[in-house]
Amino acid sequence: MRDQLPDGVEWRRVWDIALRLFHWALVVCVVTAWGLGRFGPAIMTLHFYAGYAVIGLLAFRILWGLVGPAPARFGHFLFGPSATLAYLKRLPKRVPSFWPGHNPVGALSVFGLLAILILQVATGLVSDPEDFINVGPLADQVSSQTNRLATTWHYRGSLIILALVALHLAAILFYRIWKREDLVRPMITGWKAVRKDRDA
Ligand code: HEM
Ligand code: HEM
Repeated sequence: MRDQLPDGVEWRRVWDIALRLFHWALVVCVVTAWGLGRFGPAIMTLHFYAGYAVIGLLAFRILWGLVGPAPARFGHFLFGPSATLAYLKRLPKRVPSFWPGHNPVGALSVFGLLAILILQVATGLVSDPEDFINVGPLADQVSSQTNRLATTWHYRGSLIILALVALHLAAILFYRIWKREDLVRPMITGWKAVRKDRDA
């Protein structure tokens, strides 16, 4: 793990244990919810359980984004247009980013993923596909027009999740193959090679 590092780069524990557990639990629960939603039994009780687990994980992530360690906090990876453009310009360079956390472009994908997952669980709670079996637990709290809209967006949301996760994996592969930077190992061990001149 302690490979030779270029000057100005050091090993730092960027991702804390709670954030890493959150990430891998989210992967398991989202994949399970997606699979059960699309291919599972007609009675979707198990799908609901996986969905509730995602709600719990999202609640934790929002809390952690406010009070967690620096690299996990939302303010730490909230970048303006100029920082994002500057990073985009450097992106094609065939060198690792050594970024101590989510880089400005990765941050967009993090916010995008969290936002679409919030939309997905919110629409699931009030969905009513009128099949008389699978009714979201809060469906009777809203109008039947909202039930229908939620059902439509719950379906569309599942496709957007598929697209964003594919993009997420493509970006990780791009970093691995083109930029020769392994982002996955830090998400497992917590340790990442980062530039010394950037604060945690
Ligand atoms: C359902 C599938 C997945 C979802 C919903 C998902 C979601 C996320 C989210 C929300 C983050 C931000 C972490 C944070 O909260 O700060 C993240 C980061 C990350 N994910 Fe995933 N992920 C998925 C699958 C995967 C898989 C399969 C891998 C590994 C092959 C992976 C590797 C990573 C890495 C390396 C990061 C950190 C990126 C960085 O350095 O900025 N993810 N993912
Ligand atoms: C990340 C979390 C979730 C994902 C990825 C997801 C995904 C899906 C998918 C793929 C379907 C099948 C849609 C179709 O083929 O028409 C579905 C249906 C459904 N889900 Fe979820 N879901 C999630 C969370 C939830 C939650 C939290 C609830 C409520 C407790 C929920 C309630 C429902 C209901 C009632 C249906 C049937 C309505 C329909 O056919 O659209 N889901 N979900």
